[in-house]
Amino acid sequence: MSQGFESLDPLQLHESPFKLIGKDWMLVTAGSLAHFNTMTASWGMLGHLWERPVAFAFVRPQRYTFEFMETYDAFTLSFFNHRQYRETLLYCGTHSGRDVDKMAATGLRPLSVGLNTVTFEQARLVLVCRKLYAQDLTPESFVAPEIDSSIYAAKDYHRVYVGEVVEALVKQETQGVA
Ligand SMILES: Cc1cc2nc3c(=O)[nH]c(=O)nc-3n(C[C@H](O)[C@H](O)[C@H](O)COP(=O)(O)O)c2cc1C
Repeated sequence: MSQGFESLDPLQLHESPFKLIGKDWMLVTAGSLAHFNTMTASWGMLGHLWERPVAFAFVRPQRYTFEFMETYDAFTLSFFNHRQYRETLLYCGTHSGRDVDKMAATGLRPLSVGLNTVTFEQARLVLVCRKLYAQDLTPESFVAPEIDSSIYAAKDYHRVYVGEVVEALVKQETQGVA
């Protein structure tokens, strides 16, 4: 159990993943408290695979976060109150940790959670993920070529990370809020 959070069985998460990821956005964070980076993501999935709850994150190779996703064996997905933290997530999605201190700029307060990962005190929902699988999207795999030409004009194909959700943490006061 982490400060301010309580564990939640992923089966008891009654929120739409379409809204959580696609509309509210999330922070993908990899590394330890001493060395981590975070970025905003709105592409990803939550589901069930290989007999366990999983989360997918898609990270382009030029992201600073990519280096941390590669180096570390675990990552977190952190979700926030959509209205209150929109600007914070926009900042973390338009600035690179190579150039700025995102914590200083946003006031996010990092917090160590399971698997020696990092989330933020202000998060309302956190998924702690153990990396299971990583693979680059490839142009020849697109059945719909318009996705390749429109999304990957620069040929910067995302690497897909599949993580086992080993722990879900929720702020007690926001549990169940859709
Ligand atoms: C709403 C939003 C969603 C984003 N989703 C993704 C995503 O799913 N995958 C990705 O690689 N980049 C995504 N980005 C871009 C990264 O967040 C952005 O390039 C960020 O500055 C990378 O930071 P870093 O270099 O510190 O890792 C998104 C940006 C925004 C604003």
